Amino acid sequence: MKPFLSLGLLLAVFISCKHEIAEIPVPPPGTPTGPNVPDPSPQGICFESEVLPLLLSNCAMTGCHSASNPAEGIALTSYASLMNGGEDNLVVPGNANASELIEVLLEDDPDKRMPRPPAAPLTQSQIDLLKQWINEGAQNTVNCAGCDSTQFAFAADVRPLLQSACVGCHSGTFPGGGVPLSTFEQIQTVALNGRLWGAVDHQQGFSPMPKNSAKLSACELAVIRKWIQAGAQNN
Ligand code: HEC
Repeated sequence: MKPFLSLGLLLAVFISCKHEIAEIPVPPPGTPTGPNVPDPSPQGICFESEVLPLLLSNCAMTGCHSASNPAEGIALTSYASLMNGGEDNLVVPGNANASELIEVLLEDDPDKRMPRPPAAPLTQSQIDLLKQWINEGAQNTVNCAGCDSTQFAFAADVRPLLQSACVGCHSGTFPGGGVPLSTFEQIQTVALNGRLWGAVDHQQGFSPMPKNSAKLSACELAVIRKWIQAGAQNN
């Protein structure tokens, strides 16, 4: 049955107020779901905008793999330090399964797993992103497209940005500055009280964020600013 036809039927049933049970059409399994089908990333994973923020916020905290006194001599703060770091097989371009970086993320033993507890393990989609980047050759891709400042919905645009650049430090038992950024409500609170914008825009009186790394790009800042200006809604 055509979806329009069945919708029409459904409406007709309601409008005519007949006590009939309308049949709700169920799409057959395997039907593509339009806008929900993820676009394959045409240029592959971008080091600068996807991989680096993930490493900076989940691995390069002070006391972990930061530039000053990095654990095991491995600093995870730039492409160069990642590729020329302490170990030869930290990243094996083209082979995620042979790369130590992936192995430590998947480690079951909490004493060996990275990031170390109490930090939460990376999510499966974050690990998949790193694997895909390595399997694509672990290139130092910069200035990749991927930010569109005309799109500023919370779920599709703002949250993924914060997820990669901020949440690693702003979650768990001791979120940075006592500011958790995991749930919508937590993010909305700092969006509406001005601290989110003050921090990412590096305004006086706020701690500049993301901590210890470059300011977000002008496009990323525009996405956040427009979302806040539109009322910081859960859209
Ligand atoms: C490497 C860890 C780290 C990353 C990455 C990070 N933060 Fe922070 N954040 C902190 C710490 C620690 C503080 C407490 C203040 C300080 O030490 O500078 C803080 C403080 C804050 C504050 C309170 C600032 C104030 O002055 O009131 C906000 C808001 C904030 N961060 C938002 C963010 C956002 C948004 C991002 C991502 C764009 C981000 N942070 C990325 C560690 C981090």
